[in-house]
Amino acid sequence: MTDKYAVIGNPIGHSKSPIIHKAFAHQTGEDISYEAILAPLDGFEVTVQALIVQGYKGVNVTVPFKFEAYHLFTTTNRAIDAGAVNTIDFSGSPIYGDNTDGVGLLSDIQQNLGITISGKRVLLIGAGGAAEGVLHPLLNQSPAKLLIANRTLDKAQNMKKKFLSKNNPAFILEAKTLDGLADAQFDIVINATSTGLTDTALPIPNSIFAKNCLAYDMMYGRETPFMAQARVAGAQVADGLGMLVEQAAEAFYIWRGVRPETQPVIQMIRALQMEKS
Ligand code: ATR
Repeated sequence: MTDKYAVIGNPIGHSKSPIIHKAFAHQTGEDISYEAILAPLDGFEVTVQALIVQGYKGVNVTVPFKFEAYHLFTTTNRAIDAGAVNTIDFSGSPIYGDNTDGVGLLSDIQQNLGITISGKRVLLIGAGGAAEGVLHPLLNQSPAKLLIANRTLDKAQNMKKKFLSKNNPAFILEAKTLDGLADAQFDIVINATSTGLTDTALPIPNSIFAKNCLAYDMMYGRETPFMAQARVAGAQVADGLGMLVEQAAEAFYIWRGVRPETQPVIQMIRALQMEKS
């Protein structure tokens, strides 16, 4: 019998998760269905409970429900580190909420792009949910230092404090505003702000991109102003499509115990995007 999975969000029409999971299923021969479900903003819990009753085996959770999901189920360490849940496995007892975003970013940077994080100077721009979700996994890779830079200093400082209160204070972690970057250089710069959505440039100097720097935008689907700037500054540029597919592969592995190949799926979605543009 076909096992049912879904992604729940609001909005959800843009989600690439159904295409990705159907491609994984086709590739691995796993008998699953996967659909996108729009939940009312105040109806996440009701929607999840209904899916459990209907025999669904698991769900992905996306904006804006990742934090609500965190409070509804028992959580894995990865979810606790992120303070958010993006993957729920209904098959066990208790039902577990996990988070595969961090591992998705690490797999894309380290395996797909071949860049080690250990020993590197890392700049994480943004202090919202997307940044917080990847902070801990990045620090676990032992960068030489990690600076959180955010438009609103308070939020960057709070993110730092929250992390250090839960973890080893020896981590080389700093927090600054975006205009405090004039004299600093980084080997890996990650844009975890939502500026790509609004086509807004970040007020950052070109000098932050060190020689051979990787500039990574967690957004995908088009060239953001951040990516364009980094390209001009001579950085190697990547968007977040690889992260999206890698986090999905980890969710697929949690549910099915089978690890799909991600490269063909990344290439397929990239080709679909090229056709559209
Ligand atoms: P997400 O869940 O995608 O992280 P979020 O929690 O709303 O969304 O966080 C959005 C992030 O993008 C924040 O770091 C925000 O900066 P502020 O904390 O100062 O609001 C950042 N951001 C959004 N628009 C921005 C802009 N025009 N310039 C700089 N940073 C911006």
